Amino acid sequence: MVPAPRGKALSMSRTYVVTGSASGIGRATLELLVERGEKVIGVDIHDADVVVDLSTPDGRESLVEQVTSLSGGSIDAVVANAGLASPTSKTVAVNFFGTVATLEGLRPLLAESSTPRAVAVTSMASLFPPDDELLAALLSGSEAQALERAEILAAGTPEQGSLIYGTTKRALALWIRRNAATAEWAGANIPLNGVAPGVVETPMTSSMIATPKQREEMSAMVPMPLNGIFEPRSVAYLLAWLTSVENAHLCGQVVFIDGGSDVIIRQDTTW
Ligand SMILES: NC(=O)c1ccc[n+]([C@@H]2O[C@H](COP(=O)([O-])OP(=O)(O)OC[C@H]3O[C@@H](n4cnc5c(N)ncnc54)[C@H](O)[C@@H]3O)[C@@H](O)[C@H]2O)c1
Repeated sequence: MVPAPRGKALSMSRTYVVTGSASGIGRATLELLVERGEKVIGVDIHDADVVVDLSTPDGRESLVEQVTSLSGGSIDAVVANAGLASPTSKTVAVNFFGTVATLEGLRPLLAESSTPRAVAVTSMASLFPPDDELLAALLSGSEAQALERAEILAAGTPEQGSLIYGTTKRALALWIRRNAATAEWAGANIPLNGVAPGVVETPMTSSMIATPKQREEMSAMVPMPLNGIFEPRSVAYLLAWLTSVENAHLCGQVVFIDGGSDVIIRQDTTW
């Protein structure tokens, strides 16, 4: 007979912060964690415990204030997931600067936990060719410069506008890689990692995959031979593991949960 897990009766729930919790992947993650008995502080621009606009400096400041007050000053995990896919400068503000501000702003609260974890949601779109000027502005940390470049792309051709999303996700993946092993993260015993989903059925993608023709076009751009387009709960399981106590040693990894698009697009080039 397998004995009952000894830790269960003694284990205390962990406190998670999930951004973008009102919809899609964020909502699925919040629901999974709550089902597992964890305490979750949901953050979104609407329908959340903490309602803030992560595209603005005021919203980001308010996020830290409200989470500090709701948590009592200590949290165990952050899932920085909120994002936009529109070809606008707001996508730059939310996907990169909002996400980095979430991670950096909440890091002091994570440092109060004995088992802190952080993860951000990038995308397989980080593999698409970026706009080099926007990427450089993002990585330099200059929001004004990045927003200015995004405005130019947004006002250009549809192809130029479409570079914005993938460029924000590439910058975020690089930011994770450049920061995960530093004193602030690894040095403070905080695993910092990312996930890169393929095409997931959420309100973000519903208008892009509504018809068989659109799904065919999408699968030409994002080949997913392993089980195709999938449900947000699959990403939630991975996010939950990356932010669990079990994950003590992954550092700066971006895990592609993409049905195979990374393997097909990059083949052997990551080695
Ligand atoms: N759906 C996909 O196929 C897919 C693929 C790869 C990556 N992603 C990424 O996954 C994350 C979640 O996307 P989703 O598909 O669940 O989309 P979604 O649109 O269903 O959810 C995104 C959530 O982010 C919130 N949000 C947007 N702007 C905000 C702001 N300024 N302040 C606070 N909250 C804000 C939205 O209100 C929404 O609830 C995003 O970062 C997205 O880029 C999604």
